[in-house]
Amino acid sequence: MKTKIELLQDKVKQAQTGGGAVRIESQHKKGKLTARERIHFLMDENSFEEIGMMVTHRSTDFGMEREKYLGDGVVTGYGNINGRLVYVFSQDFTVFGGSLSETHAEKICKIMDMAMKNGAPVIGLNDSGGARIQEGVVSLGGYADIFYRNVQASGVVPQLSAIMGPCAGGAVYSPAITDFILMVENTSYMFVTGPNVVKTVTHEEVTSEELGGASTHATKSGVTHFACANELDAINHVKRLLSYMPQNCEETPLSLPYTPSEESRPGLNTLMPVNANQPYDIRTVIAEVMDADSFLEVHREYAENIVVGFSRLAGRSIGIVANQPAYLAGVLDNHASTKAARFVRFCDCFNIPLLVFEDVPGFLPGTDQEWNGIINNGAKLLYAFSEATVPRITVITRKAYGGAYDVMNSKHIGADMNYAWPSAEIAVMGAKGAAEIIFKKEISTAENPEEKWLEKEKLYSDTFANPYRAAERGFVDEVIEPSQTRSKLIKAFKMLENKVVNRPRRKHGNIPL
Ligand code: HXC
Repeated sequence: MKTKIELLQDKVKQAQTGGGAVRIESQHKKGKLTARERIHFLMDENSFEEIGMMVTHRSTDFGMEREKYLGDGVVTGYGNINGRLVYVFSQDFTVFGGSLSETHAEKICKIMDMAMKNGAPVIGLNDSGGARIQEGVVSLGGYADIFYRNVQASGVVPQLSAIMGPCAGGAVYSPAITDFILMVENTSYMFVTGPNVVKTVTHEEVTSEELGGASTHATKSGVTHFACANELDAINHVKRLLSYMPQNCEETPLSLPYTPSEESRPGLNTLMPVNANQPYDIRTVIAEVMDADSFLEVHREYAENIVVGFSRLAGRSIGIVANQPAYLAGVLDNHASTKAARFVRFCDCFNIPLLVFEDVPGFLPGTDQEWNGIINNGAKLLYAFSEATVPRITVITRKAYGGAYDVMNSKHIGADMNYAWPSAEIAVMGAKGAAEIIFKKEISTAENPEEKWLEKEKLYSDTFANPYRAAERGFVDEVIEPSQTRSKLIKAFKMLENKVVNRPRRKHGNIPL
């Protein structure tokens, strides 16, 4: 028996060394952790249980039968993060560059199936050169098996993808279907085809970093939601992100203990600039209203005219969508609309109530916007809010103009409560533009057109640049002092905590993609 136990111990040791000491050293030299080290830092101490450590590939082409590694380039299993069950796969770049073989895919599929049956999140630590080139179609099939499961799990259990190395080809499409992507600055890349193929096909000379580094995807494409300073930072972001989410779509997120205290925030009464065209940072409002240091911003560097992220109010997990007057006056454009729509849909999938801070001058006009589909993209946000059944509250801090008023979680599309600050302006458009259109004749025939224009602008502004017309109609439920925002929201979200909405039966809606 002793020798049999020794055989097992030898095999475990062998599996734990992955592609061998030399490749592990090379991984470390690049500033990267190994697949197992990442799991060690991610999971609660001693909670990780590995599944499939002895799996090897079945390939016999190109002499592959002579090169086998126990585990076949991916460590899979389950364990706890902050005491809550999660399923994890961590690709091992030291084994064939973390590339995906038939058996590597089977291991990932196995834990995804378990996660679905048991209702717990799936976390992928990705570090993979894509389809294992020596395996051909069975590797492609393996990817498709994963993609299919990603889609079946979408909206059922949270799926998070941390990109820890160069991820090419199929290795980027599974993360793209998951809920959140986190990348590591300078050591992780995502591209469908790398710089060499790009050069051959399009003759463009581009580095890996420019083509698909963390900064590129955080600012230009929006593919990644987080660009993290290093691997440990990425792992800590995964843990924090999970803390706002429930285990699955049947549950509600964990609430932190909360002791009621003074909820008035007098500083908010003086925050609004006197001139309505002056910017202020909406993050200041978020920080004042929400629980201290509880805001985790998502997509921070992408479409900065809208701010989205998770926060807490009286301990409750809340998803925030806020126009940002400090960037492009908070206008809604293509990127801001899709960014916010995706976030709203995530929150709705996982029972996270939504809070909107609205200060929006409207949709951005122009050929660039129109030709890139602002009609469809704006409609995505409209659709996402309209279909959301979680508790939804809007606070109009200042401008709520045009179609953007409707889109930004108005009462008309199902918001439960709509508050406005006294500084709110709710109208079809700004007073200047409005006066120009509806009093055009009067202004052009006036003795002093400039003066007439100002007079008419003031008239329109006096009539509509306030929250009271909307409040008279009940489109705004209450006009509140800014200082009272936190206390009003705490009570309203508590009042809405058992909200149930039944929709008509259908297969699924058809969001304008
Ligand atoms: C088999 C691979 C591999 C792959 C890398 N390796 N990618 N083995 N299949 N796809 C192996 C290398 O042979 C090497 O083995 C080790 O991994 C490390 O690779 P290096 O090239 O030395 O590392 P590095 O310089 O860091 O470059 C990493 C890389 C590069 C950027 C990922 O290896 C690369 O471009 N690989 C190919 C990417 C690719 O085109 N994949 C197929 C995509 S098609 P040794 O023995 O030296 O350690 C695809 C189709 C799916 O995925 C589509 C679904 C929609």
